[in-house]
Amino acid sequence: MTVVGPMDRRTVGPSDRGISSAPVRPSGGPPVLDVRDYNFWYGPSQALADITFAIPRRAITALIGPSGCGKSTFLRSINRLNELIPRTRHTGDILLEGVSVFSRGTDVVALRRQVGMVFQQPNPFPKSIFDNVAYGPRLNGLCRSRDIPERVEQALRRAALWDEVRDRLASPATSLSGGQQQRLCIARALANEPEVLLMDEPCSALDPGATQHIEELMVELKQNYSIVIVTHNMQQASRVSDYTGFFYLGRLIEFEATKQLFTRPRDERTEAYITGRFG
Ligand SMILES: Nc1ncnc2c1ncn2[C@@H]1O[C@H](COP(=O)(O)OP(=O)(O)O)[C@@H](O)[C@H]1O
Ligand SMILES: [Mg+2]
Repeated sequence: MTVVGPMDRRTVGPSDRGISSAPVRPSGGPPVLDVRDYNFWYGPSQALADITFAIPRRAITALIGPSGCGKSTFLRSINRLNELIPRTRHTGDILLEGVSVFSRGTDVVALRRQVGMVFQQPNPFPKSIFDNVAYGPRLNGLCRSRDIPERVEQALRRAALWDEVRDRLASPATSLSGGQQQRLCIARALANEPEVLLMDEPCSALDPGATQHIEELMVELKQNYSIVIVTHNMQQASRVSDYTGFFYLGRLIEFEATKQLFTRPRDERTEAYITGRFG
């Protein structure tokens, strides 16, 4: 069997071209995101290599893998947040609804509206609860100003937060608990009417109760949104996701329906990781 050694100084592991990682094409129409031979570098150091897979629409896709394997870099590639980091470059392509996110015509503000993102640490703006959620629609001119309150309420309802905050919309967002702040950040993203929601370890800073709340919310949201979640928590990936991708040393080793990946992994490294033998 393959010996899985500790992370070496090389960021990207050896090629895995022999290993089957055929993209899963679910029955629900074309994928929302199509990743084609995507490579990414921080300066001279390659962080992602030959990433090719299709992310299904209206489903939850979990990305797992040891720390430093490129999960966050991959997420930040989708909404082009990596461009804010100097001396980075990429090759290959990522298509959102069939259109390259890197094409000249792509407006990054519009892209980041379409592709919302939630981070590990809840990061509400130092504003009121209301203004946090109204921020995107105002910035993007998504509706008339008199329709903003309705839009805020709708986003807070979708994020399962409305009942807890309806009487304190003018309070600072920072007065909320960590779990509520994370749902507020989800509401802030939803207020932009995104197609895709990227979540980078959204529950890592939350207690089990708040985590369960977010997981239930994700399952609810996948009816209308395509969700990509990075998680270190294998139980979480197997509980909530429909598809799972295993990243290792900058490569996507395996991408499968979640049940398949956790019960019958094709690759020895996937098996080693999900059974806790490394990472
Ligand atoms: N801003 C950065 N500048 C240089 N290297 C980075 C930067 N961010 C991440 N990296 C490197 O890229 C690799 C992948 O990191 P990351 O995407 O954060 O992995 P993960 O989210 O899976 O833990 C790591 O080797 C990390 O050190
Ligand atoms: Mg990360």
